[in-house]
Amino acid sequence: MNQNSSPTTELAVSAHGLVKTFGDLRAVDGVDLEVRRGEVFGVLGPNGAGKTTMLQMLATLLPMDGGRAEIFGVDVKQHPHVVRQLVGVTGQYASVDENLTARENLYLFGRLLGVDKAAARSTAEDLLGRFGLQDAGDKQISQFSGGMRRRLDLAASLIAQPPLIFLDEPTTGLDPRTRGQMWETIRDLVAQGCTVLLTTQYLDEADQLADRIAVIDRGHKVAEGTSDQLKSQVGTSTLQLRLLDPAQTGQAVDVVRRVVGDEPVLTPEAGGINVPLPDANRAADVLIGLREQELLITSATVQKPTLDEVFMALTGHGAGEDDDTDHHDSDLEAVR
Ligand SMILES: Nc1ncnc2c1ncn2[C@@H]1O[C@H](COP(=O)(O)OP(=O)(O)O)[C@@H](O)[C@H]1O
Ligand SMILES: [Mg+2]
Repeated sequence: MNQNSSPTTELAVSAHGLVKTFGDLRAVDGVDLEVRRGEVFGVLGPNGAGKTTMLQMLATLLPMDGGRAEIFGVDVKQHPHVVRQLVGVTGQYASVDENLTARENLYLFGRLLGVDKAAARSTAEDLLGRFGLQDAGDKQISQFSGGMRRRLDLAASLIAQPPLIFLDEPTTGLDPRTRGQMWETIRDLVAQGCTVLLTTQYLDEADQLADRIAVIDRGHKVAEGTSDQLKSQVGTSTLQLRLLDPAQTGQAVDVVRRVVGDEPVLTPEAGGINVPLPDANRAADVLIGLREQELLITSATVQKPTLDEVFMALTGHGAGEDDDTDHHDSDLEAVR
């Protein structure tokens, strides 16, 4: 099914009170989620937060223990077979044939979906090109790296042209260049009219890609909004300055007070000043102010809030902390 024939509703995903329990663990504990048609929606959370479990329920791959969900207005529990045609899920092609080449696998998926031979061949070629896999097209999957598998997996999920695509941590473990390629691919998909629901552990990824972000922690949604809204909740970026002449620190502090209206923090190094910024763009104002007073600096860096700071601010604990539960990567493999 392509995006033109999907039912007409403004919401690609509408979920209320989603619950999934594993024994005593409430892996997803009453989450509401609304994803608008045509947007990239990011679910941001640390390892074990419940992201994969949530996606799996929405994709009909795991039964819900509570709540309800609709995909383009279609009830997930009542019409799972319709929902499956509307959602492309990466990870479900993990069972590609290891002995076939990437090109053969993509061709085969096309044929299985009822695409004729010529079209299946050209689609396979097109996808290999888009995902930078041309050179690897004739390699057996068993020789693929993790990053190549991930890209092939996403390519395979696009053959059916689903209007909604779920990407579960699409770039975790990839090198920076491959991450960048994946981001480009995701932007392309959206430009072509797809709606994307992605999970990530990285604030920068959500920042780069997502129109709106839900932060989840231990099965709960703890915040939602645009990237800027979330960052403003955690306060500020910091401009870290080092003055050429530490004797001018007092004058520089006066400039900072005047420009940002906030009190800077002096660092232990001589001439080091940290300036809290309500908005990273104010850094330029500070630098211009210093220059106007002929106060020279040796370095200036803007430090954005990190995912850890976002989590600290929202939940009171760090994103990487496995403090009281048994979140391990091996647990995650069980649900894939
Ligand atoms: N099949 C399962 N059986 C038992 N516990 C599970 C299962 N799947 C996930 N969990 C647990 O549920 C919690 C959420 O897991 P998951 O949804 O994979 O988190 P995330 O994708 O955000 O890393 C974790 O504590 C995980 O160990
Ligand atoms: Mg996961």
